[in-house]
Amino acid sequence: LGAGPLAGKRIIVTSGPTHEPIDPVRYIANRSSGAQGTAIARALAALGAHVVFVTGPADVAPPEGVEVVRVQTAQQMSDAVDAALPAEAAVFAAAVADWRVASQSDRKLKKTRDGMPKLEFAENPDILARVAQMATGRPGLVVGFAAETNDVIENATAKRARKGCDWIVANDVSAATGIMGGTENAVVLISDDGAESWPRMGKDAVARQLADRIAAALA
Ligand code: C5P
Repeated sequence: LGAGPLAGKRIIVTSGPTHEPIDPVRYIANRSSGAQGTAIARALAALGAHVVFVTGPADVAPPEGVEVVRVQTAQQMSDAVDAALPAEAAVFAAAVADWRVASQSDRKLKKTRDGMPKLEFAENPDILARVAQMATGRPGLVVGFAAETNDVIENATAKRARKGCDWIVANDVSAATGIMGGTENAVVLISDDGAESWPRMGKDAVARQLADRIAAALA
């Protein structure tokens, strides 16, 4: 058995973007690098947790010492989270695509004289909201993220209530902040105790501070 304050605790971390296929060679994605989720998984493992790291196709490699589950789509991520439950805590750091293409083509879409394909979308499952509102088997601590470009605290506070999670880690991803795809983050932790702004620091430092908080909450 490992040592550390999170020894014996099972924690699910989602990370990275999802890829939603259009046809066998094309997909819809987003700019998430997976850096913050990967750092959180690493920090939790360093405190002794058994981390189930459910990752979409990220730019950064998964950390050592975690159980890695690789997925492509939001639906696969949702299924992988279900398969990983029960857990003491779950941290939803993934940038899940809100929509998928409703009917993916089995064949590569061709350029034709008839004009361009019309893509129709279907809504993806909201993994965070679903797990946070589970009647049975809900992890004791459910942490969501909120990437906002304006009114960060107001929007993230509303999101926390809407999703039903315990904490929201909110950050300002306006282009000028350089946070999305960058190495630093400036977050606000929103909980029952209100909004706590952390100074701007490296994503690794944010991860370590968050892991310490999680360890304190689960102690
Ligand atoms: O609603 P929004 O996408 O801004 O919420 C962000 C939070 O919800 C993140 O923690 C993200 O991982 C989670 N989420 C999810 N499943 C979705 C959409 C978002 O788990 N389909």
